[in-house]
Amino acid sequence: MKIVKTTAEILSLLNQYNKKKSIGFAPTMGALHEGHISLIERSKKDCDITVCSIFVNPTQFNSQEDFKNYPKEINADILKLQKANCDIVFIPEKSNLYSENEKAREYDFGILSSVMEGKYRIGHFNGMATIVEKLLNIIQPTKAFFGEKDLQQLQIVKELVKKEKMSTEIIGISTIRELNGLAKSSRNKLLTVKQKIEASLIYKCLCYCKENKSLGITKLKDYISTIFNKNNYVALEYVEFVSLKTLQPIQSWNEDNTNAICIAAYVNHVRLIDNIIL
Ligand code: PAF
Repeated sequence: MKIVKTTAEILSLLNQYNKKKSIGFAPTMGALHEGHISLIERSKKDCDITVCSIFVNPTQFNSQEDFKNYPKEINADILKLQKANCDIVFIPEKSNLYSENEKAREYDFGILSSVMEGKYRIGHFNGMATIVEKLLNIIQPTKAFFGEKDLQQLQIVKELVKKEKMSTEIIGISTIRELNGLAKSSRNKLLTVKQKIEASLIYKCLCYCKENKSLGITKLKDYISTIFNKNNYVALEYVEFVSLKTLQPIQSWNEDNTNAICIAAYVNHVRLIDNIIL
């Protein structure tokens, strides 16, 4: 596996490949887990060359504390990528991607970015899209892989690629879970064993809704609020029942597999998100 640290290096490396070779790309912020590795595996299946980037992007954090605390495990990450047979890992410095004092670009993703994460993490999607746009422009991948756990991010990246007329195909990959159902996330590394057990409440609620879809959205929403209110460890930030495509709230179910329930919750200071498509 080639480890590349500058934009000039990755451009020159990718230039050496035959233009007919397809490039698969998995952008990450490191602290890699099985969810990330599943992106690499899918890329290996679909494409000739797999590139993974590791960059904790400062412009997408709306709290300095969150940015500082974000887990960093670069040596372990490199070993995991080697084991997964990733071809290239790109680990740039901030100065390689941003000019001094550069801020996130201001995008207009319309209704897609005004709800849920967009409402609670002001500026997050501008920062995320800024870095994704930069990375896609550098790597010019045939396909780029994003986890479905960050459902709103996935839909916004699809919109970004459409708006910017990029040729990369954006592929969503199913969420990988702990045995107790908790969605794999780099942030889980900040949780104790007990907190991880408590955090599985999020997925349990999502599954309850899937199994009891016929109760209707109002009753299911009340059910989730009640369950979280009774729990002393997991604090609900929002639960939204939305249309998968537009991410706008729904009052009744659309066709099967076009609805999603999205939850954001805090366990202590750690913010977790998850969703289910139904
Ligand atoms: O999902 C993430 O880890 C990040 O938002 C991404 C896509 C790597 C951009 O920084």
